[in-house]
Amino acid sequence: MTPTTDAITELTIIQPDDWHIHLRDDKALATTVPHAAASFNRAICMPNLVPPVKTTDEALAYRQRILHHLQASDVSTERKAAFDPRMTLYMTNETSAHDIEVAAKSGIVQAVKLYPAGATTNSADGVTDINACVGIFEAMERYNLPLLLHGEVTHDHVDIFDREKRFLEEVLAQIIAKFPSLKIVMEHITTSDAADFILSQGNQVAATITPQHLMFNRNHLLLGGIKPHFYCLPILKREKHQKVLLDVATSGNPKFFLGTDSAPHATDQKENACGCAGCYSASIALPLYATAFDSVGKIDKLEGFTSRFGAQFYGLPVNETTVTLINQPMQVPADYPYFDNSKLTPLMAGEYLPWSIKS
Ligand code: NCD
Ligand code: ZN
Repeated sequence: MTPTTDAITELTIIQPDDWHIHLRDDKALATTVPHAAASFNRAICMPNLVPPVKTTDEALAYRQRILHHLQASDVSTERKAAFDPRMTLYMTNETSAHDIEVAAKSGIVQAVKLYPAGATTNSADGVTDINACVGIFEAMERYNLPLLLHGEVTHDHVDIFDREKRFLEEVLAQIIAKFPSLKIVMEHITTSDAADFILSQGNQVAATITPQHLMFNRNHLLLGGIKPHFYCLPILKREKHQKVLLDVATSGNPKFFLGTDSAPHATDQKENACGCAGCYSASIALPLYATAFDSVGKIDKLEGFTSRFGAQFYGLPVNETTVTLINQPMQVPADYPYFDNSKLTPLMAGEYLPWSIKS
């Protein structure tokens, strides 16, 4: 990637929000919460804990555990005050319209997450028959609670590289047709097919994009040896898809916004004969996105993507604080201490990024 926006060397933007993040639970929160709170005001916290967050009461209790770890951390007083974890419910075959009503009225549940059963990490309790979810979708539409999708089909016979594309026509198009005013976010899109699909829909359908899908493609994962820290789901695709994702993310179209999908797994669980899916990026997400945008000369489009369009989609005010990025290199730490003496290896561990956060 060749930086082309030579003119801009320092950029102050509205404080970003992360509309898709995995913080995990209990002792993991001591590492993940300070990292998220250092950069983001709102963070939509994914519910794929073990066991999953299925009710509003469970979401409230999870939020308290997050806030407890925030208070106990060495994050600045300002960042502690600004960090606002927004919660999600994990949709199962048993989720009821009443669950949705309670969630919508709670003020802290921001959305409902649908994992097709078996699609990804901790998705075993996910939905097995999306056609059976009609009552839940109706309630979500009625209470204006957005649906967040892990958009991949899970049939064994479908190739892993085709699972997102197949989901668009076989599942997503049907949901949109039946529930035309349901707000939907297709999470962590990875293909030009998904980008085109989102562009072809109304404003109620949007997508998040991760830093890894903007910066890398499957060659980075597989050439010259398997690189487990690039393995996430949906899996990295061909370079032509990466280019289209960069195009739409930097286009200024408000349908595409930031969702890191930062997904911590201890280093020994990643560097493993059956390694876990997920890239850890929370601590360096803003320099990563800045690097990606700058690589195509579009750093001027960063603020909309990181700090305006998500809030707009969720009907929330944009943040009032700002953060300054500077075109000065930073070295990504080799790893972070994680719970029970394990380690957590971030995306691009040990490498240099041209952009950093000005302290
Ligand atoms: C996520 C995780 O580890 O929870 N993993 C990932 O590869 N993205 C789950 C998910 O969002 O698919
Ligand atoms: Zn995720």
